[in-house]
Amino acid sequence: MPFKLTEEFKARAAQICARYPRRDAALLPLLEELQKEKGYVAEEAMDELARFLEISYARVKAVVTFYTMFNREPAGKYHLQVCRNISCHMAGAPGLLARLREKLGIGEGETTKDGLFTLSSVECLGACGSAPVMQVNDEYFENLTAEKLDALLDEMRHGRLKNRRS
Ligand code: FES
Repeated sequence: MPFKLTEEFKARAAQICARYPRRDAALLPLLEELQKEKGYVAEEAMDELARFLEISYARVKAVVTFYTMFNREPAGKYHLQVCRNISCHMAGAPGLLARLREKLGIGEGETTKDGLFTLSSVECLGACGSAPVMQVNDEYFENLTAEKLDALLDEMRHGRLKNRRS
C-alpha cells in the first residue's frame, strides 16, 4: 500500500511549519514527527514529505541519511546507539559494543528476533565529557560501565525504562 501522510500528521505539520519563516525550515522537526509516528522514515515517507514541503526528494533524503538518529528501516522498540568516536572509544565503548553484541546475539545494524533491540554504533553524540555514551531512542545514558549497561538492559527487558516507544 503506498505511503500517505495522515490528516492528523498534516494538521500537526501545519502547526510546526507556522513556527518558521519558511515552510521548508520545518524539515527536521517534521522528520522527527514522522519517526515518532512509525519508528522509522521510509523512502515513500521521504517522498511524501518532500511533496508536502514542496522541496526535492533528494534534499529530504540527504538530511535523513546524514543524521544517524533517523532510522530508514523498522527498528526495535529500543534503538541502542553506542558512540564510537574518540572520547567514547578511549573510555571503553568498544567493550560495551562487544558486550551488547554478545548479550543480544546481534551485530550492528541488526534487530533482535523479538523486535526489542536494534544495535548501532554512531558518530559523536556531543556528550564527550561523559563518555562512554549510548543513546536509547531519545535519551542519553552517560559514563556507562558494563554494570550500568547490564542494569539498563534488564530495565528494558522488563519494560521498566521510562523512555520507550509505546
Ligand atoms: S566521542 Fe562519544 S559523545 Fe563525543
